[in-house]
Formats: sequence, structure tokens, C-alpha cells
Amino acid sequence: MSKTTQKQRDGLDVLQEESPEKYGCLSRRHFLLTGTSAVACLALMPTGIAGAAKGLPAVQTTHPRMKIGTVSALREGVAVNFMYPSPKFGPSFLVKLGTEAGGGVGKGSDIVAFNGMCPHMGGPLIGMYKHEYKAVGPCPLHLTTFDLTRFGMIITGQATESLPQVTLELDGDDIYAVGFLGLVYGRNSNA
Ligand code: FES
Repeated sequence: MSKTTQKQRDGLDVLQEESPEKYGCLSRRHFLLTGTSAVACLALMPTGIAGAAKGLPAVQTTHPRMKIGTVSALREGVAVNFMYPSPKFGPSFLVKLGTEAGGGVGKGSDIVAFNGMCPHMGGPLIGMYKHEYKAVGPCPLHLTTFDLTRFGMIITGQATESLPQVTLELDGDDIYAVGFLGLVYGRNSNA
């Protein structure tokens, strides 16, 4: 039987099984063998891609200390916006949660601050704080919501990174921003 006749009878795949080089692509058998080997290699790899995905340390940076508010002027549940360390980093917000939080300062460790740009694609989160949930969001672009009691961890949505937290220090009644925990959206470093 000629190849043309076989192609007509069984379809193009039959011809490619016979002579993959001729058609410049993998046969189904080669594809399955290669794909299976690649998956097996990834599964057995102790480090590398699989290992790197497990425990990347959060980016932590320090910046010049800047006063962003006072404890006595803060009202629980009312977010106050500020720019830190410069407008290039977009807006951030300071809020007293009324609940102890990771990275919180003050008597109840409940005063926190976060950058206001969604780490997914920069959606605006300023004005999106929900006091009943101690959360910010949903992001107007793809609906991610972040838990402000747990270092800006994702509750739900499309983002894959926590919301960058502004690290704080107290000096008497004064609240200072001193750096970031997490990479601010749109930057490959916080420098
Ligand atoms: S930009 Fe916020 S979830 Fe996509």
C-alpha cells in the first residue's frame, strides 16, 4: 500500500508514526515518552524549580524613617493614606484594626500599614478597606482580597503574592514608616 493510500485511510498521524523526522515533529509515541521523562525528572529533583517554589523568603527592605501619623489621631477602622518613601511607590494606607495583627504596632499590636497597589497587576486598593473583615478588597481588577491581620496574605482572588506591608515603628505617640515587607507592584526591587 502506498503512503498516500495509507494517509487517506488512517489519517496523517499514521504517516508521522512511521517517519517523524520527515515531518519535523514528534510522533505521539515520542511525545509521550519525552513528556513522561520530563515529569519524572521534576518529581525526583530535590532542588531547582520544585524546591525554589516552596520557601522563597519575603523581600524585606528598609527606607528612610518617615512620620506617617500619630496613635492619638487614628480612629479604629478608618484608613489614612500616605506616600512612602516617595510617590514612585504609589499610595499606602495606615489603619488601626482593633485586632492584633502580624507586624502590628501600638498597645494592641493592631496598627498596620500596607501599600495600596495590588501585587497582581497594580489594581487600586485605596479606599477598599473592609473593617468588618479586617481585609482590603476585592481588588477592582480581578477581585483579590487580602487579610490585614496576617501580613496581607491572600484570602481569595487572582493574585499570587501577599500585599506588601509597610513596616512601622512607634516613638511615643508618633508612627513611623521604616520599610517594606514584600515587593511593591511594578518593581523588581524596592530600592
Ligand atoms: S490587579 Fe488586583 S487582582 Fe488583579
